[in-house]
Amino acid sequence: MTQDELKQAVARSAIAYVEGDIIGVGTGSTANFFIDELAKIKDRFKGTVASSEATAARLRGHGIAVLDLNDVPEIAVYIDGADEINAAGAMIKGGGAALTREKIVASVSKKFVCIADGSKLVDTLGKFPLPVEVLPMACNAVARQLAALGGQPKLRLKAGTNEAFVTDNGGNILDVAGLSITDPVALEAQINQIVGVIAVGLFAARGANVCLLGTPEGVRTLTY
Ligand code: A5P
Repeated sequence: MTQDELKQAVARSAIAYVEGDIIGVGTGSTANFFIDELAKIKDRFKGTVASSEATAARLRGHGIAVLDLNDVPEIAVYIDGADEINAAGAMIKGGGAALTREKIVASVSKKFVCIADGSKLVDTLGKFPLPVEVLPMACNAVARQLAALGGQPKLRLKAGTNEAFVTDNGGNILDVAGLSITDPVALEAQINQIVGVIAVGLFAARGANVCLLGTPEGVRTLTY
């Protein structure tokens, strides 16, 4: 099976976890497959809250309503991919640059269902460079503090240019390589304390409740 077929398989399985009137929807290639599946059952719910402009556009393209989080009292389930996930349900996210809104939508959702191909399951988080969204004026100041924590931060650039990548929120992203994250909850709290950080792509204090992992043998369900 190709990686895309594994992602499609978990996206299909995630439909069984859809509940409530409003669905929280993540960002990325796996989330995109999920959106395409969600479109097939769009009569079963009222609308969605999107974790990025790209996700909102794809949802609207399917005729699915996208609501402002400020108008939504609660979300039963948030469904999203991950760049890495460990055995405790802690994740690295933000490869698609949507980490801040993903974290906000996840934080108001009762259940987080992670959908990922099997390659995303790791023993120790950190091989995938940890994305940190930063206010542009604080990039170098934050980078120095991330380096002091043992990481090698690198400013994410717009593909094929020397210009800084700009997120949906007007922030920049530092991708921090070289971290072996043995205590994800502690590191998340530590990075959150750095002035100028908008959000860190460590989802540990609030990790996944369920992970649907695509493997050639079928979809594995991990619960936390
Ligand atoms: C987006 O910012 C990310 O958090 C994605 O959820 C993550 O990068 C997984 O993306 P893929 O589903 O494309 O692997």
